[in-house]
Amino acid sequence: MAKYPKGKKKHYQPKVKKKSSITKMNPDTFVLSSLLQATPHYVSGNHLADRLKMSRVGVWARVDKLRKSGLSIEASQNRGYRLAGEPDLLVRPLLDAWFKECNINYPVHLLESTDSTNSEAERLLASGEKAPFAVISQHQQSGRGRMGRTWYSPKGGNLYLSIGLRPDVALVKLRTFTLWQGVTIAKFLKDLTGIDSLMVKWPNDLVSGRKKVGGMLTEASIDCDQVRSMVFGIGLNINSSSENFPKEIRANSTSLKDLSGTEWRIHEIAAKLIKVCMKSCQECLLEDTGDQLQKDWKEMDFLKGKKVSIQSGKDVFSGSAHGIDETGGLIVKLKNGRQKIAHAGEVSLMR
Ligand code: BTN
Repeated sequence: MAKYPKGKKKHYQPKVKKKSSITKMNPDTFVLSSLLQATPHYVSGNHLADRLKMSRVGVWARVDKLRKSGLSIEASQNRGYRLAGEPDLLVRPLLDAWFKECNINYPVHLLESTDSTNSEAERLLASGEKAPFAVISQHQQSGRGRMGRTWYSPKGGNLYLSIGLRPDVALVKLRTFTLWQGVTIAKFLKDLTGIDSLMVKWPNDLVSGRKKVGGMLTEASIDCDQVRSMVFGIGLNINSSSENFPKEIRANSTSLKDLSGTEWRIHEIAAKLIKVCMKSCQECLLEDTGDQLQKDWKEMDFLKGKKVSIQSGKDVFSGSAHGIDETGGLIVKLKNGRQKIAHAGEVSLMR
């Protein structure tokens, strides 16, 4: 159970909202939104009853229902209610309260289970769904990674997120897309969690040392060198413990909890990550981010100066990694002093 901080003050009076905005909001979301705003303090039952035009008993029954969904809501006789903790499974009204907090105003589909959130986003795009939108699932039956690999996607504790876009840009815009997302997300997670070791391993891994904490997968549908629609997917290990991962990936995997020793609020991370990803998608597709990417990559580049071996199809070569060129390719300095650019392939670190 990830905790919310507890304050010393008696209770907090949430900002007065226009009554019309309350009536439009789901009452559960209104309750949780008020509790979130008040954190770390309490919100009085009277305030909630008054705003929801309900009796205090009605408010109590609603809070009780929210508790049954796994949320921990403390009640105190003369102070009211306080959000104390949240479970590892996503609870829709709390997610909506965080979306409100983060001003997210595009659709976010929350699924219990799906084959892959990237596939679900592709299906939605194909059926004409208005973009941008996001898809999250509590579980993936066949989450996929780069180069035909699977992405371990158990229920609870991790995030599986895809963003559907119809950008109408030239294909070349996608060359550095995942790298840009990677540095932006790694910086965001570093700031949020204080885990200083978070970096990006070319081209699509979020890592801490040699262990992977997240992976990104960008897939696009192209028409005459123009991107018709695309999906950006990210899997992030948050509160899972790598000791419970399948043995093939256990030694090379980690999670934010493993790295920090604390449980993270998955609803907060989901909402803030969607916000960050949407913004950086727009930046990369609509602006010239080349110089900024070079600067940020230098800061977040896990492979910098390391000895690597690259396997790209039948081509295998090794050398030391020296950042990225303007096309997003990995610059590898070979033993003979020449350099080679890797545009795709599998990078392994040499001991
Ligand atoms: C990789 O490291 O090879 C990329 C992993 C990407 C996993 C995410 S989880 C959400 C989205 N749905 C998928 O099927 N894959 C991506």
